[in-house]
Amino acid sequence: MNGKTALITGASSGFGREFAKLFAQDGYNLVLVARQQEVLQQLSDELTQAHGINATVLAKDLAQPDAADQIYLECQQQGIQVDVLVNDAGLSEYGKFVESDLRKELDTIQVNVTSLVYLTKLFLRDMVARNEGKILQLGSTLSLIPTPLMAVYGATKAFVLSFTEALQNELNDTNVTLTILMPGAADTDFFNKAGAEDTKVYQDTKLSKPEDVARDGYEGLMSGVPRVVSGFKNKVQAVGAGMLPGSLMAAAMRDLMEPYDPDAERKKKITQYTIAGVVAAGVLTWLALGRNRRSDWN
Ligand SMILES: NC(=O)c1ccc[n+]([C@@H]2O[C@H](COP(=O)([O-])OP(=O)(O)OC[C@H]3O[C@@H](n4cnc5c(N)ncnc54)[C@H](OP(=O)(O)O)[C@@H]3O)[C@@H](O)[C@H]2O)c1
Repeated sequence: MNGKTALITGASSGFGREFAKLFAQDGYNLVLVARQQEVLQQLSDELTQAHGINATVLAKDLAQPDAADQIYLECQQQGIQVDVLVNDAGLSEYGKFVESDLRKELDTIQVNVTSLVYLTKLFLRDMVARNEGKILQLGSTLSLIPTPLMAVYGATKAFVLSFTEALQNELNDTNVTLTILMPGAADTDFFNKAGAEDTKVYQDTKLSKPEDVARDGYEGLMSGVPRVVSGFKNKVQAVGAGMLPGSLMAAAMRDLMEPYDPDAERKKKITQYTIAGVVAAGVLTWLALGRNRRSDWN
């Protein structure tokens, strides 16, 4: 045990669950936050037994406007000092904006943005007063890319990036660090809960493993790195997003967010390979003819 405490929102599933394991392995006490109390309790029992740490379960709905206040108050009442805050909880809603569920989109803004800002404000003040502490914010590669069919979600993640980088600047002269973790599509429950499990990005791309993403984020957080883009493919995508116009990135993302049609994809790949084959054959013929012409001259 190192006597420090990490508060993790979204600890019942996906990256959040993996973060909890990593902190527990390093001897951190935990405050586990999400809605599913039983799942959190099970995780808490598992980790306290395995690592001899203390864990507190706070079952809270971060879509409720007073949830962040309640979490802060309960920590104070239980005498828990939060040394590390991981704002991981998040959700999305899939579909064209004019047709999708507004209630779920407003909850998305409340959880991904408002509660994240609220928790950051409450715990950051104490960290700055102690001149010590660390915060990890869950962004996404979509923080950099407009996201058709998940327009509100993409915008919440763009907010998280802007907010975090502004605070990083404000905290330059303190020992408190903020890190933003930007994963690409990963194999968690996220897509199913958003109703996006049939999309090309989920069905037809290589998804990151949650344990790898959490490990990258954890290491970046511990070393105080400002921005962690997890995975090589996502790093390349992030560089591209910084250079290309938003409309182009939005069009590419739209393609990935459309429903996956295996037949159409197969036909598209056959066409692409045929074009590549014809181009390659043309280049080889041209090179061969060039060599013949040169030997005619000699
Ligand atoms: N998976 C991806 O492809 C991906 C990529 C980039 C970024 N991210 C981000 O990574 C973070 C974690 O997502 P994940 O992939 O691990 O998804 P996940 O497996 O669905 O986990 C989401 C977590 O957020 C919690 N949560 C959702 N709504 C909540 C609410 N109203 N109140 C309290 N907790 C709530 C869930 O707990 P309960 O259901 O128990 O409340 C769960 O623990 C999110 O911020 C997400 O936007 C995900």
